[in-house]
Amino acid sequence: MRIENFPLEIQEYLKPFHKAKMIYRCLGCESEFGIDQLLYICPECGAVLLLHDENFEDLKKIPGQTWQKIFDYRKMLKIPAMKGIYLFHELIGPVIPLEHIIYLGEAHTPIVEASAALQERVGFKFYFKNDGQNPSASFKDRGMASALSYINFLVGTGRVEDVLAICASTGDTSAAAALYASYVSRDVKSAVLLPHGKVTPQQLAQPLGSGARVFEIPGLFDDCMKVVEALSENYSVALLNSKNAWRILGQESYSYEIAMDFEFDVEKLAVFVPIGNAGNITAVMNGFMKFLEIGAISSLPKIIGVQSEHADPVYKYYLETDPAKRKFMPVAVRPSAAQAAMIGNPVSMPRVIKLADRYNEISKKRNVFVVQTTEQDIMDWYLTANQNGHIACTHGGECLAGAVKAAEESILSSDEIAVLDSTAHALKFANFQNMYFDGTMPKDYGVTQNPELINKPELIRPDLEKLPGPDSPLNDADMTKFVDRVSIEIAKRLGIEEKK
Ligand SMILES: Cc1ncc(COP(=O)(O)O)c(C=O)c1O
Ligand SMILES: [Zn+2]
Repeated sequence: MRIENFPLEIQEYLKPFHKAKMIYRCLGCESEFGIDQLLYICPECGAVLLLHDENFEDLKKIPGQTWQKIFDYRKMLKIPAMKGIYLFHELIGPVIPLEHIIYLGEAHTPIVEASAALQERVGFKFYFKNDGQNPSASFKDRGMASALSYINFLVGTGRVEDVLAICASTGDTSAAAALYASYVSRDVKSAVLLPHGKVTPQQLAQPLGSGARVFEIPGLFDDCMKVVEALSENYSVALLNSKNAWRILGQESYSYEIAMDFEFDVEKLAVFVPIGNAGNITAVMNGFMKFLEIGAISSLPKIIGVQSEHADPVYKYYLETDPAKRKFMPVAVRPSAAQAAMIGNPVSMPRVIKLADRYNEISKKRNVFVVQTTEQDIMDWYLTANQNGHIACTHGGECLAGAVKAAEESILSSDEIAVLDSTAHALKFANFQNMYFDGTMPKDYGVTQNPELINKPELIRPDLEKLPGPDSPLNDADMTKFVDRVSIEIAKRLGIEEKK
């Protein structure tokens, strides 16, 4: 819709209007730094950073209800740069002019109510938010749109040139980084580091297809991360992991969308997020708190992080009930079907600790929880979700397993509505489904097959002299024989009766 056709009182707010002053602030020593340079850690103390807008107070002068209208009406605009995460321009990258924004169709992913059968089975109301329906088929595109738009802005305004963007990945970060970097390929080249044999074939195909340099190294994600950190400290490269605070800003859009999906009433929501490197849960908490600050929502939803028992450092940290006694300890990970979250030493842990405390404080009650699931439950709920009309990845399955666990432990109460993050598309993780069906999941996953969930193709090959093949089309008589025999066999197996 054209701007002149919107209600008069909203017209001035439709295009970005806010004059921001963005800075990096260190989570350790609270030092502040300008955003003209790409920073990942505090030059003073080495801690992680978050981005802040020093003029954020200006946004609070606009009434909350006006903000709701701004976001709702903006959905009708046909300005490409504002169709994705930058619908929330004032909150995500207010210093980036629209002409530098990269939009590849990310964000505003569907929120799908779970099938009636599935809701009845688990005993609570829930939705999947299908973040696998992003361009590279995972939520990482939200953060990459932000990080690459910022880099594109730096390049476009002559602040940097010839960027080499690098990241370590469990598969999805690299797919997203390579995709967005290849879109601005004239100025940005990308290289990704993957743990050899620890990403799915689809995930490996993605950065290769986008033309990135792909390096596989022995070990796990945490080892790749160490190499990438060394590279970013010693060489001139742009780091695209979620250590990069611009990534977090983009991922905050997930929270804003959930608020919009529920007409800005989030009081009864419990938002489930799988935790790996902990960038996503950081962004989700920060997003809801920012939306509360500008008055777009009037309360904070419950946040429930989910970790597999095979990669659970954040869960273990919060097991200690006395905050003063909590001590973060990295864990040695074991194979997990939630493979993209198989991280023992999450880079964003300091952010989680700080933000969860603030979130609970503002909520005036404990409102951030972490639950632990078994590998068996991750696989069983992942398959069950998809056999009920969903397109969840294994992490979506982990979220559902976590929600069932949270309900058992009364962390999720019966009047709450669960929103589960299916962080990637089911197809990226099809090999886990197939290993389960074939009984070939390696023992160290600790998963056994539930016969009711197994599904396999059935080959019907009638005992006939002539069968159709690419070089041997059948004559009419042979074709009739073939069709008869095959259809009788299929009808027998399906137990269907012949028409009278
Ligand atoms: C599909 C998927 N789900 C969940 C996660 C975990 O997210 P985070 O690392 O932000 O905690 C990842 C991280 O790589 C992922 O790729
Ligand atoms: Zn510092």
